[in-house]
Amino acid sequence: MKIGLLGFGVVGRGVYEITAARDDMQVVKVLCLEDIQLPDAEVVHDFQSILNDESIDTVVEAMGGLHPAYDFVRAALEAGKNIVTSNKALVATFYDDLLPLAESKGLAFRCTAAVGGGIGWLSELERVRRVETVSMVGGIMNGTCNYILDSMTRLGLDYGEALSQAQALGYAERNPSTDVDGIDTWHKLILSSNIAFGVSLERDGVPAAGISKISAADVANFAEHGYVCKLVSHGTQCDGVYSAFVQPTLYAQGALEAAVPTNFNLITLDGEVSGRQSFYGQGAGRYPTAYNVVQDCVSLLSGKGFYCPYGKKVTVDNSCTRRYYVRGASDAWIQSVAAENWNGAVVTGPVAVSEMHAWLKNNPDAFIAAIAE
Ligand code: HSE
Repeated sequence: MKIGLLGFGVVGRGVYEITAARDDMQVVKVLCLEDIQLPDAEVVHDFQSILNDESIDTVVEAMGGLHPAYDFVRAALEAGKNIVTSNKALVATFYDDLLPLAESKGLAFRCTAAVGGGIGWLSELERVRRVETVSMVGGIMNGTCNYILDSMTRLGLDYGEALSQAQALGYAERNPSTDVDGIDTWHKLILSSNIAFGVSLERDGVPAAGISKISAADVANFAEHGYVCKLVSHGTQCDGVYSAFVQPTLYAQGALEAAVPTNFNLITLDGEVSGRQSFYGQGAGRYPTAYNVVQDCVSLLSGKGFYCPYGKKVTVDNSCTRRYYVRGASDAWIQSVAAENWNGAVVTGPVAVSEMHAWLKNNPDAFIAAIAE
């Protein structure tokens, strides 16, 4: 396998290092803005040099972001090159464009490192689907949010302190919005659901609530009532009805999710035959992520393409209900659904997930967390 590697940042460098020790694949060109020298690969500054190189059969995209990553990946597919990427935003956003294109051209497209970093989550979904139907996917998919929430819970830090630590450790970006507003988890949920259920979810119907409004007082409130807060994704299918959402969720102390420390991920599926399976590990970082990129390259060599056939577009129905903790806003509707008072915060009776997220849109300073069933 001759690889054209796009990007030489955290993940790209890891891919280069791991493949350098192998004789079944070789990074022959690296697209990189900087003037660096590599012993085994040519460093190029122009994507055309990779696109027009007929010896390159596979493009590994490790740039991140939507553009120019999308434009390069699309052009590479048009030119007949297989794709491996770790870019969840790219695949979730352009699913309906890139997947059918790869399929129509008979090319491989894999993105295992896009969800769960070093955990073989998407590749395991592919295996699970060979035998059974998956009815639920979801869990803790964002290491940065887990680090922040875990630091607040175990060390008693406030949100700002925990975020600063996450930034100092390189988990959170200077602008942390993609992680803390739940967007990264949203991309990962859409991708996981599409593959698990063999569909393409209507993305606008999938709401995401983040953690940026959580306070130390909320966390103390949860502890007093026996709960731990995690940012969690949830996708289900049942008799052709699809539900998907991302939201802070309260787990009883002692639940598996409640115990997930620092920047780890815990991702779970329900299979009709195998039952519940959970996958735990490093959801980010150079070597875990590069590991799954290289695993995808090995899968390509053994003839594997995407994880499932491209599926039909489906709408999302979030009429299922949850009880919610709500703090920071209280209007007539919240009063009408209130069931308990936790130190000034409302705990509701069962409320439709869609209704609660619609309310949150109009009350962006409030903090909500569902109570896990
Ligand atoms: N920002 C992501 C996280 C990186 O914190 O999980 C891995 O996708």
